[in-house]
Amino acid sequence: MISSIANTLLSWYAQHKRTLPWRNTHDPYAIWVSEMMLQQTQVNTVLPYYERFLEEIPTVHDLAYIDDEKLMKQWQGLGYYSRVKNMKKAALIVVNEMNGKFPSTWENIIRLPGIGEYSAGAILSIAYDLPYPAIDGNVMRVFARLVNEEEEVTNPKIKQKMKEVIKKTLPPIRCGDYNQALMDLGATICLGNGVPKCGMCPLNACCKAYDQGTQTLIPRKVPKKERIIEEWMILLIHHHEKWLIHQRSSEGLLASMWEYPMIPIGSQKNVLSFCESFGFIVDSLHPARIETHLFTHKKWIMTSWIMKVTTDKVLPKGYVWATLDDIHEIYSLATAYEPFTHLLLENKVVERLK
Ligand code: ADE
Ligand code: SF4
Repeated sequence: MISSIANTLLSWYAQHKRTLPWRNTHDPYAIWVSEMMLQQTQVNTVLPYYERFLEEIPTVHDLAYIDDEKLMKQWQGLGYYSRVKNMKKAALIVVNEMNGKFPSTWENIIRLPGIGEYSAGAILSIAYDLPYPAIDGNVMRVFARLVNEEEEVTNPKIKQKMKEVIKKTLPPIRCGDYNQALMDLGATICLGNGVPKCGMCPLNACCKAYDQGTQTLIPRKVPKKERIIEEWMILLIHHHEKWLIHQRSSEGLLASMWEYPMIPIGSQKNVLSFCESFGFIVDSLHPARIETHLFTHKKWIMTSWIMKVTTDKVLPKGYVWATLDDIHEIYSLATAYEPFTHLLLENKVVERLK
């Protein structure tokens, strides 16, 4: 069964592969960009970002020397921003320590920040046709079903066993196509959310889960941890046609992204003491929208306050007054704050402050 999987999948792929822009290139840089974007983001979301990124930053050299704000703008909305920060670090290593040539060996590619086993295998197989597997959650699901693995595939022992099985199926050539065929099978046929389309699956003749009717039970689900709830007050502070924004710490959640100032939930008094600490005189203050945002492990409930202030004080480091155009063009605000920017774009908002 193992030996026929690759041939069957490769012929299926030849007919059914998704047309995707990173499949028209062997440029390892472009393939790396695609893999970093696709790590935690769906194909359809990635498509416009991928095209724009390569137009603006066509080579690893351009990436190594790009201005940080410009780079963050390219990624704004994709989330998981550590990916793009690692990419810049990696680009500097490629330029300074690898003669500007994107690495083509396991030892060198695995050294680069942001590249783990999965990405290394994906890039080496797709760009250089080297025989490495690229095992992500989708591929794990397909194989768990093929062999009817009833234990949790997140269990390290089971994971290792599955990896060995997958490695044995790698074809001697066209490994990049094989890995991408598995990705396509996982994305379009052997679905994780929803019922797998076993009737259309090229591997149904050798699938143990299909044979036993267990495909929707495998892989066994690990109970999800509840998200931690955090409640914040978002301060939308207006002064001379500008709004106060702040750059988040370079560590932790949404590191280095810009935000509207936020303080833990409390009363109007807390808002006023925040303003006082900046030397602002508050001319008007209204409660505004409440929004929520989901991260992988957290849920933010954000209550916004909109206010107009007078001040002649210099802002502390990390804070700037920005017009809505600046916010659009220069500063990368995280997606969590987007509803508030939309709110500020409504004409009535500033008028109500007067
Ligand atoms: N997900 C991760 N890498 C991919 C690729 N090369 N094609 C399609 N989906 C992917
Ligand atoms: Fe997945 Fe069904 Fe194909 Fe088995 S037959 S690999 S469960 S789609």
